[in-house]
Parts: sequence; C-alpha cells; structure tokens
Amino acid sequence: MNHIAARTGRHCLSLPSNRLGLYLALRHWCVPGQRLLMSPISADEILFLVLAAGLRPVIAPLSPRDGNIDASRVDLDAVDAVLTTNLYGLPDAAPAFAGKILVEDVAHAMESDLDGRPLGTFGHASVFSLSKHPGAGSGGVLAVEDAADLLALTRARDALLTPSSARADLWSVATSMARQAALTLNLVRPALSLARRLGLEEEREGYRVALRPQELATALKQAPSLPPFDSWVRADLHDYRARRGPLARWYQRRRVAGVPRERARRLAGVRRLAELPTVAPAVLDDLSRPLFRVPLLVHDRDAAIGELERHGVSTGYLYDPPYDDYAPAFTERSPDPAPARWWARHVLPVDPMYAARSLPVLRRFEPPRRGPYG
Ligand SMILES: Cc1ncc(COP(=O)(O)O)c(C=O)c1O
Repeated sequence: MNHIAARTGRHCLSLPSNRLGLYLALRHWCVPGQRLLMSPISADEILFLVLAAGLRPVIAPLSPRDGNIDASRVDLDAVDAVLTTNLYGLPDAAPAFAGKILVEDVAHAMESDLDGRPLGTFGHASVFSLSKHPGAGSGGVLAVEDAADLLALTRARDALLTPSSARADLWSVATSMARQAALTLNLVRPALSLARRLGLEEEREGYRVALRPQELATALKQAPSLPPFDSWVRADLHDYRARRGPLARWYQRRRVAGVPRERARRLAGVRRLAELPTVAPAVLDDLSRPLFRVPLLVHDRDAAIGELERHGVSTGYLYDPPYDDYAPAFTERSPDPAPARWWARHVLPVDPMYAARSLPVLRRFEPPRRGPYG
C-alpha cells in the first residue's frame, strides 16, 4: 500500500478487490438514480457494480486512439458523475471532467501519469487493483483525499466483507505464484491447458460473462444492495469481497513492493512494442508510461490470439462487445457506437513484460483494413 500512498499522497483503504472499491466509491459519492458516464469498453464486473450501486450507465463515445472516453464528444450536462477506465494504462482526459463527481478506475494505470501528475489523483476517489501491475492474484486499494471520507468508506467496506478463510487465502496465493512461475519459465501453454482441464477457467459467452437479463432485472429491484449482484460482480474473482488473512496480505505487500523494480523492464517492453505499425496511436503520445498492456490494433484479432497462444503467449483483458451491445436493456446507448465496436473487435493487448517472447509473432500481424468510422 505504501507505494500507492506515496504516489498519490492520499489516504488509502485496503480491499480484497478493485471492484469492491469502485462500488464503495460510487455509493459514497453518488445517489441511486444518478446518471454515470462510462466507457463502453471495460471489464464485465464494472458494468454490474454500477448497476448494483443503483446508477444509470450512460455509455460514452469511445476514442479509437486510446480506447477511453472521447471527452471531446460527451455531453457532460446530461450526467451527474463520470467513471474513467484508463484502459491498459493509457490515461483518460480526467481534467475534462472537472465539475462532475469523478471516480477513477486505475486498475490498469498504477504507474501512469498525465502531464506529470499520477493517475489516481484527479478524482474524488481512485481505485487500484493489485492483480494487475503487482500480479498479486487479488487485492485493491481505494485512495481518497479526505480522512473523513476514509472513515466512512472503512465502515461501509467492513459491513460488506465476508469472513476470511485460510484455505481461500492459500489457494489465491498459490495460484498467483503458479501463474507467475508459468510466465517466468515460459510454460504458459501447458499451464493454460492444465487450467482448462481442471475447469479453472470461468465459463464465458465469447469474451463476456453470461448476462442472464431476466435475473439481472430482478436483482436491479434490490439495488443499491450489493449481495444480490454477487454472481455477476464476482466474475472470475469469486472472493471479491472476502476479508484477506495475514498470508494474502503479506503476499500483496511483497508484490506491490516489487512494482518499482519492474518499471525499467516494463518501459523497455512498451518502447519495443511501440515500434510495431499496429500499435494504438495514443501509446506514442508518451513513451515514458509503464503501461499494464500495450494495445495493438490488428486485422484478425481472434486469429492473432490463437497464433500467440501456440507460441506460449496468452492474451487477456479483452472487453468485447461494448457494454451497450452486451447489455442494451441496462445501459443508455452511446451516441456513436461504431468506434467502440471497431476497437473491441481489433484490439490485441500485449504484456510489455514479455515483449521479447511475443514480438516475433506480433510482427506478422496487419492493421485493420477499415478505419473506426466505417
Ligand atoms: C479495467 C478494469 N477495472 C477493474 C478491474 C477489476 O479489478 P479487480 O479484479 O481487482 O476487482 C479489472 C479486472 O480485470 C479491469 O480490467
């Protein structure tokens, strides 16, 4: 936590996941019924926790330069609050949302700055994820400016936490260590097939979890209560609101402390990947950002994923289709859905820490044949 407190200069609250922190922040600063502007491209659970908080998701137009909200095309008068995504570590235009309640999802952006200022210092609240840059398997940190807010949020967190379990902690730490070892030892291919055989991979419809619209409509009647939404919000992190014991907390601290040491290697990977003709344009805006993933835009993305996997590189963090196509009955549609569909279909996020392994394959991929506007 020290690294995050030092980077943001904020009061920090430790959490079992980022998603719980986003829910707490939205409940603390917004009131049910308010309209929240959000990107169409983010993790499934983010949409569900917004619905759980009783808010109306207003889907923003997307910038195909970076996969974030296109701030130049939003109608801020029509919304009460904004949730940024900072996708793969590329910054949203946070200063453009001044005057609104702003919650920053900095899950992907632990190490990113915008004009010299760390992301996570712009909004009323910002929420980090310890399973991303630190690779700690799970964990989150909510950062706020005011000690009084921290106190209220601590109480709200404690009311939602489920009991800790030494077994769940051990499982979470052991699977995270195994994942790190598979990456380091270049054993991703056998590890993936083992995980599939053991049924450890979450069932999905394409890249998204099943929506179950009728059940979701029933759960909505109980918003802003979180537990009725557990089966959606938990997605691939079933103990997303379970208290963590000493083992998991020790592991998280150790992994977070390692983030600054990895910075140079991450940056070197970003710079090498940025030389590809397929790199998303905004990556080139500032090559001093240690991104979580480097987004490439490739013609046949799904074939590219298969080819990378055959070479021992797995791809994650794909958010396709955009929320307004995925859950049309539960969202207010973007005024221009085409760029988000294009981004969702073509984006290939690549881990800069293992750029040397993926680059020989990535060089073969071509950019999309059509542009984002048709
Ligand atoms: C953009 C984004 N935000 C939030 C989360 C949720 O983070 P956590 O797993 O710590 O709840 C994820 C997880 O993949 C994510 O990709």
